[in-house]
Amino acid sequence: MNASSWTTAAYLIAALLFVISLAGLSKHETSRAGVLFGVIGMGIALIATVATALESASGLGIVLLAVTVVIGGAIGLWRARVVEMTGMPELIALMHSFVGLAAVLVGWNGFLEVSSGHTDLTGALLGIHHGEVVVGVFIGAVTFTGSIVAYLKLSAKIASKPLQLPGKNVLNLGALVAFAALTVLFVITPTWWLLGVVTVLALLLGVHLVASIGGGDMPVVVSMLNSYSGWAAAASGFLLSNDLLIITGALVGSSGAFLSYVMCKAMNRSFISVIAGGFGAPASSGGAEVTGEHREIDAAGVAELLAAARSVVITPGYGMAVAQAQYPVAELTRQLREQGVGVRFGVHPVAGRLPGHMNVLLAEVQVPYDIVLEMDEINDDLAETDVVLVIGANDTVNPAAAEDPASPIAGMPVLRVWESADVVVFKRSMATGYAGVQNPLFFRENTQMLFGDAKDRVQDILAALKGHALT
Ligand code: TAP
Repeated sequence: MNASSWTTAAYLIAALLFVISLAGLSKHETSRAGVLFGVIGMGIALIATVATALESASGLGIVLLAVTVVIGGAIGLWRARVVEMTGMPELIALMHSFVGLAAVLVGWNGFLEVSSGHTDLTGALLGIHHGEVVVGVFIGAVTFTGSIVAYLKLSAKIASKPLQLPGKNVLNLGALVAFAALTVLFVITPTWWLLGVVTVLALLLGVHLVASIGGGDMPVVVSMLNSYSGWAAAASGFLLSNDLLIITGALVGSSGAFLSYVMCKAMNRSFISVIAGGFGAPASSGGAEVTGEHREIDAAGVAELLAAARSVVITPGYGMAVAQAQYPVAELTRQLREQGVGVRFGVHPVAGRLPGHMNVLLAEVQVPYDIVLEMDEINDDLAETDVVLVIGANDTVNPAAAEDPASPIAGMPVLRVWESADVVVFKRSMATGYAGVQNPLFFRENTQMLFGDAKDRVQDILAALKGHALT
């Protein structure tokens, strides 16, 4: 077998491992194995790619390759070690921006090869090459700036509320029409200035698309940019004639698109509306003013409620992740279950800051999978539940989504915790959640607020329960 056949075989094995990895990641029980298959596949792909490059590389090329692999690998290892779970979406958004930037650079390089005479392509093949260049640069540039805006929004460095430029839909549509026209022009008369115009247009479109999307829809944006980064990588694969990059890019592109679709359905949002930067979304008035008196409870009071309860549902949210409260929450669950109290978890599809965020935290502390239910599985049981503990969740339990058509999160399905006999909300203040929407739940008659860091408060409840004989 010659070197290129080895590379092809290695790429095929890597591609198969990526498919198996995706299948594994779709279930709790197999997700660890899924990650492992992905890592092995990426390892094989990297070794095969480096080995192929070494065959034709000059001495300087080899040094450059080694330096970039070492620097990139070191930064990757360092970031992965220090990143907080709650900072994952920002990190992912930033990584997508690198994929986008890489696609832009690969595209420019593809044109540089032609303009400097380093190509054998002629006729129709040359035209296809130019088409690939312009499409790759366009998707890459949209992904690049879109991901940077997503990073800034997710890390709260800029406001998460949607940018509402006048005629924003016309702007988006106009940019797409201009792109189509410029692509045709570039294929006929390829010049650097045309490629520059396409790049700038796409950079601006990326900013506008993501800036136009409001806080509540950001989960979809993260998975949508994931999809865009996949298509950008696939476009680079065509330019570099790299089959593995095409397959991997298509896998990421299509799975990201499917995830965006699933999340839109879960949040009752129009898929087209969100991917088109909030296209057709009505300008929200911000919802009705929420006022009223809230009631407070202390840890001893919650311990009493729990001691008297037969059924308890815990709905975790972003605050549980911030406080790292999953450890005492698991201990509380264990103790209550030992005393015969039925404890279950209700997990909203966009609770936290990334898909599956709460499931990962609960799995980490070995909460049994069978008591962790999805929103749709538990919502109808909440009316028969004695106590709901809302631990660091806010938007995902906001009744305004169901009851106030003017609310920015109107129509988003939520956990109907207010239907239970007693609700205890764990948070540090009366502040709003990620979407910046006030929450009338806090003023309901059956709701009591337990203020403070969620981890400290759950530990206080555990201490208070010691003095209580559970009924
Ligand atoms: P949020 O609505 O973000 O509310 C979290 C609450 O936790 C806050 O109200 C905060 O109140 C409280 N909190 C923060 N730190 C705390 C601590 N140490 N101890 C106790 N409480 C603490 O959470 P959610 O219900 O999980 O909703 C998620 C939101 O994020 C949705 O709007 C969703 O669209 C968005 N989002 C989700 C994703 C994905 S994919 N899941 C990605 C991006 C955005 P205090 O400050 O008063 O403590």
